[in-house]
Amino acid sequence: METILITGANRGLGLEFVRQYASLGAKILACCRVPAEANELQALQKQYPSIHIFPLDVSNMDQIQALAKQIDEPIDILINNAGRLEKDETLGNLLTDSFMQTFMVNAVAPLKITEAFSKHVAKSKRKLIVCVSSTMGSIGENTSGGYYSYRTSKAALNMGMKSAAIDLEPQQIKILLLHPGWVKTRMGGEQASIDAVESITGMRQVIETYQPGPGEVKFYRYDGQTIGW
Ligand SMILES: NC(=O)c1ccc[n+]([C@@H]2O[C@H](COP(=O)([O-])OP(=O)(O)OC[C@H]3O[C@@H](n4cnc5c(N)ncnc54)[C@H](OP(=O)(O)O)[C@@H]3O)[C@@H](O)[C@H]2O)c1
Repeated sequence: METILITGANRGLGLEFVRQYASLGAKILACCRVPAEANELQALQKQYPSIHIFPLDVSNMDQIQALAKQIDEPIDILINNAGRLEKDETLGNLLTDSFMQTFMVNAVAPLKITEAFSKHVAKSKRKLIVCVSSTMGSIGENTSGGYYSYRTSKAALNMGMKSAAIDLEPQQIKILLLHPGWVKTRMGGEQASIDAVESITGMRQVIETYQPGPGEVKFYRYDGQTIGW
């Protein structure tokens, strides 16, 4: 049975990752900010006892360290999914505190979680770290501007994970960056083009077949297409 740790597991894409992997028989370490309010996740846990729920605010570095100590088992796939998007942001209206919080959640936290849990991943069979990034972090694909904190934080995530892939290569840990598509979640909104089931089904297939070269990181869409950096 594979063990999979997922951040932001209480709703949106994180919750659907939990649902699909649990239904396939994986053991899930489902992390979310407030487990007591994670009603859908708790309902899933009743259906699948292999789901274990842990409190984790990814912007709380002490909590990351404490959880890494508490969890004492190999982790096959670590999925950095939690993310934050500030929508009302324009040049002339950049709010520093909000910008820094987005950077913390989207770029710093995945690296700190990678740092804290790389030992657990190295002990597993699968040895894979997945980050839910975004095409909004692609410099080459930015043709519409705006979204300063979100775009820069996802670009920083991609660069940080490229370094981590090189540094963790001696431990045979692989890193994959995924764009989930434009998905109907609270972040993606109702107008989005696909639902979470389609996105996660696609991302699972990409994860399943991922075979990077040494130190290599790929940036793929949920349907397996390569994204330019
Ligand atoms: N939906 C899209 O179209 C789309 C497109 C490209 C990339 N993405 C990426 O996909 C990932 C998941 O997004 P989503 O669409 O599922 O969005 P969502 O429905 O808004 O869910 C965001 C998740 O992140 C969690 N989160 C935010 N800040 C956190 C923190 N400090 N600590 C722990 N958890 C935190 C939220 O928890 P709370 O409930 O506690 O707030 C929630 O579980 C994100 O990384 C996002 O950038 C989404």
